[in-house]
Amino acid sequence: MNKYLVVGNPIEHSMSPLIHNYWIKKNNIRAIYDKKKLNSVDLKDLIIKIREKNISGVNVTVPFKKEVIPYLDKLTLDAETTQSVNTILLTNDSKIVGHNTDIGGFENAIKDTGYNLSGKKILILGSGGVTASIIFALYKMEVSSITITNRTKTKAEYLQNFYNSITVKKNGWSKIKVVEWGQMPEFDMIINATSVGLNNNDNLNLDFSKIGKNKFFYDVIYNPKETNFLKKGKDLGNKTENGKKMFIFQAAEAFKIWHDVRPEINEEVNILLD
Ligand SMILES: NC(=O)c1ccc[n+]([C@@H]2O[C@H](COP(=O)([O-])OP(=O)(O)OC[C@H]3O[C@@H](n4cnc5c(N)ncnc54)[C@H](OP(=O)(O)O)[C@@H]3O)[C@@H](O)[C@H]2O)c1
Repeated sequence: MNKYLVVGNPIEHSMSPLIHNYWIKKNNIRAIYDKKKLNSVDLKDLIIKIREKNISGVNVTVPFKKEVIPYLDKLTLDAETTQSVNTILLTNDSKIVGHNTDIGGFENAIKDTGYNLSGKKILILGSGGVTASIIFALYKMEVSSITITNRTKTKAEYLQNFYNSITVKKNGWSKIKVVEWGQMPEFDMIINATSVGLNNNDNLNLDFSKIGKNKFFYDVIYNPKETNFLKKGKDLGNKTENGKKMFIFQAAEAFKIWHDVRPEINEEVNILLD
């Protein structure tokens, strides 16, 4: 029986076992998917277990998506560009490869809503691990501008410099702007990529009174289903979407990497995560 794992700290909240075990059963695959809380010192051992084929594949979540990189043999272009790994695979030629399926997860989730990002102005709240993946996906979808704002401004500036030096030169993408936390520049779509909202009474305390009409409020959080950020967006008459589809699509991409099967995303999967 092949063993798969999601590792992080904390890990109790993870819904990855639920969705992967559902697809494993549906596709008659002899495998089991579990979750494990780790500390940084455990990462080395984890990779040894993959190399020795005791574990067949691993999903990585907060706070190890970057920290795991030095232990891997190779990164895909997506993982390399974002310096973020959420899926690990041992290849047939015994190389441990780090993938990033958050990028595809976000891209497919937005496409699924029918919203056309091309030429849009985007404002991202937050500069943690997931923001790097979202920026890369946004560039691929040809947005016109990206502005980031973060409580700790230096982290936003780090991402700004990182992308402006690597990708802007190579691809001719427009430069990322950074504004002070609390400022609200003009945007078409606003993305909450902070962890504010995970608790029901969490509030970003931002002033949306002058943002205008017909905006898209997107939250990477999907539990709770409707954060105060999304409630506010909806009350102001805007389009809203939570991060559930992003989670499902990133899991589906990881499943395909490990099992070479594209799992079905149906209503049952949707309900499973409610
Ligand atoms: N839907 C999906 O598939 C998916 C995938 C990945 C992640 N996520 C979710 O995305 C969220 C962020 O993940 P991550 O990996 O980027 O986490 P992270 O690296 O820990 O970053 C957390 C971010 O939240 C900000 N933040 C935390 N508390 C704040 C507060 N009180 N006020 C303002 N900002 C605050 C942090 O700002 P500072 O820099 O100032 O600390 C930082 O920008 C999490 O909720 C995670 O569950 C969803």
